[in-house]
Order: sequence, then C-alpha cells, then structure tokens
Amino acid sequence: MFDKNKKLIFSGIQPSGTFTLGNYLGAVINWNKLQDDYNCVYCVVDMHAITVKQEPAKLRQNTLEAYALLLACGIDINRSVLFIQSHVKTHAELSWVLSCSTQYGELGRMTQFKDKSLKHADDINAGLYTYPVLMAADILVYNADLVPVGIDQKQHLELARNVAQRFNGRYGETFIVPEPYIGEVGSKVMSLQNPESKMSKSDDNVNAYVLVIDDKDTIIRKFKRAVTDSDTEIVYKEGKDGINNLMTIYSAVTGDSFDKITADFSGKGYGDFKLAVGEAVADKLSPIREEYLKIIADKDYLKKCYTEGAEQALRLSQRVVNKVYRKVGFVDKV
Ligand code: TRP
Repeated sequence: MFDKNKKLIFSGIQPSGTFTLGNYLGAVINWNKLQDDYNCVYCVVDMHAITVKQEPAKLRQNTLEAYALLLACGIDINRSVLFIQSHVKTHAELSWVLSCSTQYGELGRMTQFKDKSLKHADDINAGLYTYPVLMAADILVYNADLVPVGIDQKQHLELARNVAQRFNGRYGETFIVPEPYIGEVGSKVMSLQNPESKMSKSDDNVNAYVLVIDDKDTIIRKFKRAVTDSDTEIVYKEGKDGINNLMTIYSAVTGDSFDKITADFSGKGYGDFKLAVGEAVADKLSPIREEYLKIIADKDYLKKCYTEGAEQALRLSQRVVNKVYRKVGFVDKV
C-alpha cells in the first residue's frame, strides 16, 4: 500500500478518549493532510498511557474512542496504517534492545520525566523513566523519516535520534535517524477559561475545553463563555491572550488570516466574534461528530479496522526487529 518513493511519517497520540479541539487543530488535522504526500503510520499509544495510573476499563474505552475518532477525522486506512500500540509486539521488543543503548543519565534529563515525577510523586515507576525509549522504538521500528511533534515532545525525538545514532555506530547502519517534521505547524490552542494555559481535557472546568464530539449548542455555549479582556478590539496583539486564542481557532477552521479577521469584525463586539467562532467551529466539527457516532456504534467495523492496521504494522516492523536481533547477536529462530 505504501509508495516506495515517499517518505515515511510516524506519529502517536495518547488514548485520552475523544480528544479536544486543541488536539485536533494542533495535530490530527495535519495528520490528515500528510496522507497526501507521505506514507503515514499512526498509532494510539496505550502502552505509554499506563506509565501513569489508569483505570483498566476506562483505558480500554478511551483507546477505542480515540481510534474511532481518528477514523472520523479522516485518517484513511486505505492509505495509512492506523493501529493500537499494544497490538503490535515489535514495539516492546525493540524498546528492550534500545534501552540497552540508552544511558541512565540521558533519561534523567528529560523534562517530561521530571515534571511527571513531581506530579505523580507516589508512583515514579520505571516505565515513566523509560517512556522515551518506547517512543524511540515506536519511531525506529518503522524506519520513519519524519515525526511531526509538538514542542513538548521535541526532547524525546532528540533522544530517539541519539539512540539511533549510537546503535548505528555500535552495530552498523540499521536505523534511519528520524527528523522532526517541520511543515505547516499545528495551531496551539489554549484554554477558553484561562488562555495562558494549554487547552486540556483534564481541566476541572468543562468550559475550558471543546471536545471534537461536542454538539453545536455545547460548542457555542462554551465559546460564548470564553474569557477575553476589557479591551474592545479584535486584533492579534501581545497581552490579549483570550482574543489571540479565539483568532487562532477561527483562522484554523476558516483559513482566514488574522488581518482579514480584524477587518471583517471591525466595529463588532466581542460577543459577536465569540458567537462567530463558536459557529465556525461547530460547522467544522459536526461532520466529524456524525461520523464518529456511526463508527463507535459499529464495533465490528472498528475491530476490522484496528485488526488490519495491526497486521500491516507488524509486517512493516517485524523486518526491522529481525535485523536488529541479528545485529546484536541473538541466535536466529527457525
Ligand atoms: N509521547 C507522545 C505524546 O505524549 C505520544 C507518542 C508516543 C509519540 N510515541 C510517539 C509521538 C512516537 C510521536 C512519535 O504526545
């Protein structure tokens, strides 16, 4: 199914269930576009998820929901490989080998590990520590050329590059050293209630985030309540975090430039603008919501998709694991 002349892109998303407008505009909308020009391998990273406490039934549900929502967002299983991480054993296998080419010290320097250790001080488990090794395995096991990642995952990608180079240096050319994908950058969407922090589904205030599957009324209500400022101008400017965020969102869903938005809304109040943003977002998301509801109700279809995805992913990655096992000196299995 893949075109040999195209580069391979890999990316993973945490299974937090039906994700937010922030995840959509920040990442998934680009995953969709990338399918035109690249061979794409996308995965729901349930194995990464258990590095912090999860309720098993909830994790299972969240994983299926995230998978279904990716399908609804336009990830096309006839063009891309879309699967659930724990279904493909090669990730864990390569992760172990790579952990022996990763230094204790370099993992300790990861800022996400430091942050999460503070946040989950009662459970600083080894998986939390070796999280970036599994992430390196995700990428290297497909010999991915490019990885689209946000700023918060840059350090992990850098580590994956270092591990690949170290392994290649020690055992001979094996892995492609992956590059960050720098193309159209996703939009960074902030909380509607506190526009200084990132939009997150774990926010206590449900008005702070919009889910991709929220219905029209809910979306409009949340935008109407969005925090702005005491100014009146609809213009992108430092110090106007709330308006900047709304403009970013509006621009991402309509394609309008900031200048055009400012011109179109000149003389109008914040109330009008918030309503317009809410309507534009609801229009953009409503076909996705409908598709999602259809897919999540059709368990057989969902199962068929993730089963085929896992088979394709295994086929692609098994070759790399075989090669790695040979290189490090494991005895061939007959
Ligand atoms: N760690 C990434 C995140 O939290 C998810 C992820 C896992 C990933 N494996 C990956 C992203 C490989 C890119 C490539 O967002």
